[in-house]
Amino acid sequence: MAVESKYDPKDMVFRHLGPTGLKVSVFSLGGWLTYGGTQKGNIVKECLQTAWDHGVNTFDTAEVYANGQCELEMGTALKELAWPRDEYVLITKVFFGTGRKEPNTRGLSKKHVIEGLKSSLQRLQQPYVDAVFAHRPDYATPMKEIVEGFTQAIRNLNMAYYWGTSEWSAVQIMEATQIADKYNLIAPIAEQPQYNAFHRERFEVEYAPLFDQFKYGTTIWSPLASGLLTGKYNDGIPEGSRFSNHKEVFDSTIKELESPEGKKKIEKVKKLTAIAEKLGGNTSQLALAWAAKNENVSTVILGATKPEQIKDNCGAVKILAQLTPEHMEEIGKILDNTPAKPPKFGRERRIVNKRKSRL
Ligand SMILES: NC(=O)c1ccc[n+]([C@@H]2O[C@H](COP(=O)([O-])OP(=O)(O)OC[C@H]3O[C@@H](n4cnc5c(N)ncnc54)[C@H](OP(=O)(O)O)[C@@H]3O)[C@@H](O)[C@H]2O)c1
Repeated sequence: MAVESKYDPKDMVFRHLGPTGLKVSVFSLGGWLTYGGTQKGNIVKECLQTAWDHGVNTFDTAEVYANGQCELEMGTALKELAWPRDEYVLITKVFFGTGRKEPNTRGLSKKHVIEGLKSSLQRLQQPYVDAVFAHRPDYATPMKEIVEGFTQAIRNLNMAYYWGTSEWSAVQIMEATQIADKYNLIAPIAEQPQYNAFHRERFEVEYAPLFDQFKYGTTIWSPLASGLLTGKYNDGIPEGSRFSNHKEVFDSTIKELESPEGKKKIEKVKKLTAIAEKLGGNTSQLALAWAAKNENVSTVILGATKPEQIKDNCGAVKILAQLTPEHMEEIGKILDNTPAKPPKFGRERRIVNKRKSRL
């Protein structure tokens, strides 16, 4: 039966997710603290639809978001929207569980990787996700068991096509990759790290060898530093914003805003606004485009409580197209936080395509 396409990519940019053939929109949409948390029902569907209408084909959730409620809400929305399954990319993450106390309902044991993912799929009302991420490293489970668990979920149980890591160290990702090589298992293909104009070190320095050697992909989170890079916190904390609704989660960030360090960040945001306006955009769009400009970013995961924020943020596609090396240098000077790279002693060499495909 012919499938009627419901997807119009508009002016969206697509990138491969790391070394795979899978294409993700450079801006995607996730549900942390929003869907199933503060936002439930029709508004979730409206947010997904708005993203889709702007060319977003990739969506991110996790078992732990609102203790499973995020997957339930996004699953219901996806079912009602009834987009052809081969037109969108769905990611979930396992590790933290859904708030239950039993010891085997979290972590990366083979049991929880498989049973956690099975439960996620039930909540999402989906037979599979495109990629499942290990939401954190598990220091209590041998790496070989972790890689076997994800391999089994993909190879034997068809519950996902790929797996990735989130906030793992480069060393842990290397270890998982080497174990996959040695035992003919499936290696992870992408990392989900925090990356934004105020949080750069790990992405730009520690992960650099992963990008060079494995073409490791990235689905980056908190690209607006939870809203700080929109400019909405320039004059205090507005009622109804994330920092006001989730004071306990952002306790240290809120305290930092009062410190000289925090005030310096706000000054930088104000200076970024001037550049954004020169480009015909706004501060959020510039911050999102700045992150997407890094070629090692596969997709920038947007977070949004309202459809209008998604519409606004997708305007970053236009700013991305305009950003020149001169703009990047100007932004770099304002940020004044470029992480120092380790010295190469004149022995620089890029190792491209070294790793053969294992999928
Ligand atoms: N792997 C991990 O450990 C991890 C961790 C965190 C997040 N993530 C993923 O990454 C996604 C994005 O992270 P994030 O939500 O922290 O992203 P973010 O872009 O840094 O923050 C999003 C929040 O900023 C505010 N906002 C966004 N656009 C705005 C606009 N144009 N104007 C005004 N306010 C705006 C909204 O909050 P308010 O309206 O409430 O102020 C929105 O919920 C998550 O949904 C999740 O899928 C992964």
